[in-house]
Amino acid sequence: QRVRQEETPLAGKKVVVTAGPTHEPLDPVRYLANRSSGRQGYAIADALADLGADVTLVSGPTELRAPAGVEVIPCETARDMQATVMGLPPQDVAVCTAAVADWRPASEANQKMKKKDRSDVPAPLSLVANPDILADLSMPSASRPRLVVGFAAETENVESYAIAKRARKGCDWIVANDVSPATNVMGGLENQILLITQDGVEYWPRMTKEEVARRLALSISDWFCSKSDF
Ligand code: CTP
Ligand code: CA
Repeated sequence: QRVRQEETPLAGKKVVVTAGPTHEPLDPVRYLANRSSGRQGYAIADALADLGADVTLVSGPTELRAPAGVEVIPCETARDMQATVMGLPPQDVAVCTAAVADWRPASEANQKMKKKDRSDVPAPLSLVANPDILADLSMPSASRPRLVVGFAAETENVESYAIAKRARKGCDWIVANDVSPATNVMGGLENQILLITQDGVEYWPRMTKEEVARRLALSISDWFCSKSDF
């Protein structure tokens, strides 16, 4: 029930979008998480589906409804998200918007952790590194998506950190945003981004997350159009 063929330039393209936070359990009732709402990722999945793409949205826990025509695969932890994404059939495009927890508790208690008395505190938390899904997706391989887009959430030095992040991750584009509290981006309705590609840096004005999504989806379809084998 989506729109006509000429309005669906991404018809036949498989796209995976990661979105939302991850929850990293400490025990059966507690977890480490972050402030991501998932809104930007869901909006991107929706905008890509509007252009005809076959979109799989791999989502950490959010309060959001599945966009029309998008397959949502829910997951909880970074390791779940990695296994889900890497287990998909080959994709043409990957857009990693998820605020994946960088670290998880080194161990998960089988039962709820209990206090011995009112002042009892647990041992200091010991954390270990989570897998990096964007870096894994970006590794050269026969099944690497042709276009891998990462996000960079920064609270300072946004442009230089994001340029360095693009190189470090091996992705093709980075959408960089300033998530310091004063911007009200993380969890908010608007976003202001820099798009970093092989050609340089585009500065986009502040706009709603839906408008960012629409513009990014159009940039992706333009990129495919610019490829002679489209
Ligand atoms: N990302 C990921 N897996 C992780 C961490 C990040 O896939 N374990 C992805 C995010 O979805 C995003 C990009 O990598 O597309 C950058 O995430 P960000 O948190 O900004 O960068 P990090 O490399 O984790 O560096 P840092 O948090 O130290 O800035
Ligand atoms: Ca991170």
